[in-house]
Amino acid sequence: MDEPVTTLQALAAEAAVCRRCRLAGTRTNVVFGMGSPASPLVFVGEGPGAQEDATGLPFVGRSGRLLDTLIEQELGVTRASLYIANIVKCRPPGNRNPQPDEVESCTPYLEAQLETIAPELVVALGAVAARFLISPDLQITSARGKFFQTRFGTVMPTFHPSYGLRQGGSAVTAMRADMTTAKLFLKERGRWS
Ligand code: URA
Repeated sequence: MDEPVTTLQALAAEAAVCRRCRLAGTRTNVVFGMGSPASPLVFVGEGPGAQEDATGLPFVGRSGRLLDTLIEQELGVTRASLYIANIVKCRPPGNRNPQPDEVESCTPYLEAQLETIAPELVVALGAVAARFLISPDLQITSARGKFFQTRFGTVMPTFHPSYGLRQGGSAVTAMRADMTTAKLFLKERGRWS
């Protein structure tokens, strides 16, 4: 079998010229994902925003800065040692939610990323990611911080960082608690030092 890094590079090269859906017509860059293919933990967001589209990197705007802060303060590592990806790899215009046919066209990339990395835990950031990874009728407020067994392995939803930015206070406190829950889960399985 190919090394995960080789497989991810090949997938990223394929995604870079992807024209499977209408988002190809308005994107600047494909935002494939970034981080360590050896990570026991993968974060999955919804889709690139303006700054991600401009740079080709996930979560580099304001919500990304909150995510980085939570990763550093609650998990005690930097994003480079984890892996971050999105449901759709191209920016939906005006930051609208990705449409069902766009999700359907794009998620084979995410499925291949998760199969290649085979993380111990996937953290779904927000309802769009959680509904794809867990169940279409999931309610993020009641499901956050809980573990779900899925075809992608164990998935735990938490709020999307942009919701945390908008709400502040208790939403960010909840996200901090969920990060700690994720770390304990990995520690118990010997996947976190
Ligand atoms: N929001 C997301 O869901 N993903 C990003 O990469 C940036 C913002």
